[in-house]
Amino acid sequence: MMKDVQSIHNYYSPNDLYNKIIEGLHKLEKDLSKVTLDDLQPVDEFHIRGDTATKELIKLCGFTPDMHILDVGCGIGGSTRRLSHEIGCRVTGIDLSDEYIDTAERLTTLLNMQERVKFHATSALSLPFEDNSFDGVWSLQMNMNVEDKLAWLKETYRVLKPGSRVILYEVCGHKNTPPHFPVPWAQDGSMSFLVPPKAFKEIIQAAGFDITLWHDKTDLAQKAFVNAKEPVGEPNLPALGVYLLVGKDIQTKAYNLRRNLDEERVSLIETVAVKPRS
Ligand SMILES: C[S@@+](CC[C@H](N)C(=O)[O-])C[C@H]1O[C@@H](n2cnc3c(N)ncnc32)[C@H](O)[C@@H]1O
Repeated sequence: MMKDVQSIHNYYSPNDLYNKIIEGLHKLEKDLSKVTLDDLQPVDEFHIRGDTATKELIKLCGFTPDMHILDVGCGIGGSTRRLSHEIGCRVTGIDLSDEYIDTAERLTTLLNMQERVKFHATSALSLPFEDNSFDGVWSLQMNMNVEDKLAWLKETYRVLKPGSRVILYEVCGHKNTPPHFPVPWAQDGSMSFLVPPKAFKEIIQAAGFDITLWHDKTDLAQKAFVNAKEPVGEPNLPALGVYLLVGKDIQTKAYNLRRNLDEERVSLIETVAVKPRS
């Protein structure tokens, strides 16, 4: 693994993650034989506005039950499972982190969704799939860790069937730099590669896509983080939360994300792009 990607891999590699989530479910007195997507939501939808955003993306994606969709940078698979559950389609998730993929597979089995939802540990920049294999791709808040965004989007383009679409829900830069660190996706600037929305749009187009929808969702992100305060003393953390994925300084990371949104250092973009038929 390349050195720069190795540090990102390490950042997203907590120990014994699946058992920590099971412990959290026990603390919440959940019956493991009846665990639902909503029970896991506090920990398995690691993007701004969690399942609310995922449900909005499901409404606009246009995917249908006969399709096979690729989730690029799927984390522990919360939105992968939700997409399959709501649409009825097959979804394959890939992620750089072996620990996340192991957890994604075990949680999927716990929910008895393993027939339609599969996972692979691999990089978004070298996907182990044939050209034109997927009916759709979605990627939720991964681009921030990817320096070579054109290579990532060309690889996405390669595996997508002509006429199919990619849904992206991504944190971008804004007017001001640099962002305050740490943030939920990076401990410091060496792991974070933000470009402003205009540059992001140009990279998507340079990879060959036609953009059919472009929404700036920064104001909704600001509303979601309006109560994020600078933490004082020992953190009081819930039984389940994304701190299990990226560490107990999550409240500092959330507070910095709020500052970055308010100070126009980061923005939030939702977009749909199509691979042309010829
Ligand atoms: C903020 S999390 C989002 C996870 C998931 N999409 C979600 O919304 O719950 C970013 C994810 O991108 C993954 N990632 C970062 N760089 C990657 C790469 N080059 N290839 C594949 N996955 C990558 C990380 O391992 C992490 O799981």
